[in-house]
Amino acid sequence: MSRASFTTNSSSSESSSEPDAEVYAEQTRRTVLLGALVTTACLGCSAHAGANEDPPGADERPQKGDVLVFSEGDKEGKPITAADLPAGGPPLHAWPKDPNTSVVRSGSRLNEILIIRLDPAELDEKTRARAVDGILAYSAICSHAGCPVTAWVKSDVGDKEVFKCMCHNSEFDPRAGAQVVFGPAPRRLAALPLVLADGSLSVAGNFTGKVGGAQPG
Ligand code: FES
Repeated sequence: MSRASFTTNSSSSESSSEPDAEVYAEQTRRTVLLGALVTTACLGCSAHAGANEDPPGADERPQKGDVLVFSEGDKEGKPITAADLPAGGPPLHAWPKDPNTSVVRSGSRLNEILIIRLDPAELDEKTRARAVDGILAYSAICSHAGCPVTAWVKSDVGDKEVFKCMCHNSEFDPRAGAQVVFGPAPRRLAALPLVLADGSLSVAGNFTGKVGGAQPG
């Protein structure tokens, strides 16, 4: 993600003067060093965005009993209820929130969640068993290289809508446990068990599986 700041230059032999070559080599060395520093710094930031300012618990993974709140839009920070979820999608983006301390666990981007409501008849057996009234939650972080999964679009390989990561076009089917149906992602998105009580959604347990991709994120 932060690799755009890392510049490479492959043409090196057109200028023949030795001083120029030395200057060029020194400039290249500085560029590479600067790029490495920026890349390292950004990867650290993305793993714990604002970690120094976050209250305790903000970067902990979702805990049993956490409520789910909007992570964006007009209702940012407000609890998500079943009534907020349009039948058949698109998904809402959410953070878990500790109901005792009111800490929103937005200190790690790995905590962002996709919540979607689907027709239970469309779900495979295992996914239906985990759904509450057709509502499912998955990690919003792609299992390929850790980009956020942002799109809900018709699949390249079918006629249904799927979660899509626009970084390298991986697609995940939420009706089948968010398994990969297209693209380079090596594994499904982690699922997050939910409970529904009085219309409010909360976390019932840990993520099922590894969250995120091969790169730090
Ligand atoms: S990071 Fe999602 S497809 Fe590559």
